[in-house]
Amino acid sequence: MSTSVLSPNTRLMPVTAEISPEHHLMLGGCDTVKLAERWGTPLWVMDYDTIKASAEALKAGLAVYPGAKALYAGKAFMCLAICKLVRELGLGLDVVSEGELFTALRSGFPNDDIYLHGNNKSPAELIMAVENSGVTIIVDGFQELDSVIEIASARGLRARIMVRVTPGVEPETHEYIKTGQFDSKFGISLEQVIPFVERVVRSEEHLEFRGIHAHIGSQSMAMEPYLKLVDILAETVAEIKNRLGREIDYLNLGGGLGIVYTEADQPIPLFDWSRAMAERVLDVFARLGLKQPQLLVEPGRSVVGTAGVTLYRAGQVKNFESGKRAVALDGGMADNPRPATYNARYTSVIASRMNESEADSPVDLVGRFCESGDIIIKGAGIPAETGDLIAVFSTGAYNYSMSSNYNRTGKPACVLVKDGKSELIIERESLDDLVRQDRIPDFLNFNS
Ligand SMILES: Cc1ncc(COP(=O)(O)O)c(C=O)c1O
Repeated sequence: MSTSVLSPNTRLMPVTAEISPEHHLMLGGCDTVKLAERWGTPLWVMDYDTIKASAEALKAGLAVYPGAKALYAGKAFMCLAICKLVRELGLGLDVVSEGELFTALRSGFPNDDIYLHGNNKSPAELIMAVENSGVTIIVDGFQELDSVIEIASARGLRARIMVRVTPGVEPETHEYIKTGQFDSKFGISLEQVIPFVERVVRSEEHLEFRGIHAHIGSQSMAMEPYLKLVDILAETVAEIKNRLGREIDYLNLGGGLGIVYTEADQPIPLFDWSRAMAERVLDVFARLGLKQPQLLVEPGRSVVGTAGVTLYRAGQVKNFESGKRAVALDGGMADNPRPATYNARYTSVIASRMNESEADSPVDLVGRFCESGDIIIKGAGIPAETGDLIAVFSTGAYNYSMSSNYNRTGKPACVLVKDGKSELIIERESLDDLVRQDRIPDFLNFNS
């Protein structure tokens, strides 16, 4: 498929990346050297235009399907400003915890465009979703269905639900981020769909059943599993129609589209991905004589991943007899746990010296945290020296959202850059923030 629509998930750098006359990396019209001076490092930088272009690509792909809607999977990166931005761009929102749901509601996101996921939702999460009517709960199992019915009936409300199924489709990706296989902890099996819908029908006084959801995994590079997913779900919908005489209103195909982390990555462009799925649904549902459902997709990584760049300051450098060189960053696995968790690979540049050539010795960019596995990039190939500003690309997704306070370090700040301006969207955690939740039992207060 060819298209002139820009799909930022296929580019390593944000769409606004440029090099200044001083050989500094520029993002969103801002000089990264100045960003680091102003906001400190490590610093997460999110590029507004890249997120916007991603949303536009998704929407353009879905344009062939009347009423289709893209949701943004907030687990990739969520804060109040991102909720506002996503809404401005015309996307809905997928949330997966009480905290994400609270953030979405606090941002003023319309309930009707919020979808709550989770394989073990707490009673508090379900209550919050049911009480904020309009929020759709993606029910993950029979026990949860019973809980939703109980919560809704106790309040005299009708909960809006979809059901998550495990379609048995596996994308080529890391074991830890596959979710569609038959023994997945997420969703119900295809065989359980009919009994599930029968159970729903018996409780329709308390339930508004909207349809089916599936998500097969993350950082997927191939189209085939998605097309297979559409076929399987269409057959499931046909079976519901044949056996129970019901059509479904909504079909959610999940997210999972891959992005570029290194030169080796060749993801499907966002536009092509959403277009191909939309066309397949139109085609297969028509062929099976089924009503065209409202189509939803919910990518996270491919919307914000390549919009994010982390800026680090290079500190201590160690040269080993083996010829290897380790350059220590002022961040690491606490702000980006992905390399240590599943060997995720990244690409870096020296943001303060963009004209420098590749290193002739293997350079590892190591983190500052107390684990040998805290290596952000093995063989980074850049001649980094103490004091350099290092930019690591494609850190917009699953970095902030998976970050920790390991070694009692405060989480970095995050700024949104646009048209030469940088605005703080997440404040850097202070030392006071780190002890804010701490409590000292009376019997330990021996100094006071
Ligand atoms: C249910 C669901 N939807 C959407 C996503 C978003 O996936 P991605 O960020 O890879 O697009 C996930 C990720 O785990 C998910 O579990």
